[in-house]
Amino acid sequence: MTDAPATPAARPITLITGASRGIGRAIAERLAADGHDLALTYRERRDAAEEVADACRALGARVELFEVDFADLEAADRLVPEVVAALGAMTGLVNNAGITGRIGGFLDAPIEESELVFRINVLAPIVVTRAAIAHMSTDLGGSGGAIVNISSGAATNGSPHTYVPYAMSKAALNILTLGTAREFAAAGVRVNTVSPGTTYTEIHAAAGRPNAPEERAPRIPMQRAGHPHEIAGAVAYLLSDDASYTTGTDIRVAGGN
Ligand SMILES: NC(=O)c1ccc[n+]([C@@H]2O[C@H](COP(=O)([O-])OP(=O)(O)OC[C@H]3O[C@@H](n4cnc5c(N)ncnc54)[C@H](OP(=O)(O)O)[C@@H]3O)[C@@H](O)[C@H]2O)c1
Repeated sequence: MTDAPATPAARPITLITGASRGIGRAIAERLAADGHDLALTYRERRDAAEEVADACRALGARVELFEVDFADLEAADRLVPEVVAALGAMTGLVNNAGITGRIGGFLDAPIEESELVFRINVLAPIVVTRAAIAHMSTDLGGSGGAIVNISSGAATNGSPHTYVPYAMSKAALNILTLGTAREFAAAGVRVNTVSPGTTYTEIHAAAGRPNAPEERAPRIPMQRAGHPHEIAGAVAYLLSDDASYTTGTDIRVAGGN
């Protein structure tokens, strides 16, 4: 008697926000290598996003690109249904897109900038996460899924003299993880955080300090900033079956800080 051929397991379908460069790009390429199909968002750098999509397709992934500015919460709300229509039932979400605001003292941070930081880093993840959970929850007819929120070491050190409002926004994101992890644990949805330390990306130039990784290196126990692929590994683990009993936790990838 011969065994029946095994049915190939369905490929995970994962949405990554802010995947045109930096940490989001590294996560996309790692997940493509791990066998995910991908929905990738970008705000304005279409060419960069196309490059990432091509790299992921070369690794065997189906990839769809979505242009969305998370300052527009209505556009954020439309994203998950658009992803499901394009690729099928979504099994994973990585809330990665984020901004810091300009580096400087707390008294110098304009309130309009803090408002935008909270809109992109907190309100948009709330909106996208709600839509994702409504789609994934087994209580609502979904098949379950996993969410990873990209926070920051800033959430627990406050980032004095640097960007206190950004640190506050990431602390709020950590509680989005904890609260939703516990509320939806019995509905098949796992929610976790990855907290990078200073990582080599363009986010520091946008904050006005392109050399921040080198400047901070002496204060990092490993004496260096991280690389995006070192963050991506933690995300891949949390989305994998290896993490099937892991929810509401935070993996800090910060060189010892
Ligand atoms: N790099 C670090 O040192 C570090 C440390 C701790 C935590 N983090 C966190 O890691 C995440 C990724 O950071 P990164 O360093 O990779 O950033 P990055 O290099 O600046 O890339 C940001 C990504 O987010 C997108 N994005 C920016 N503003 C957006 C908006 N308003 N709406 C929609 N998408 C937007 C960008 O799209 P476009 O390319 O189209 O502009 C890009 O894909 C962020 O949440 C950040 O807070 C970073």
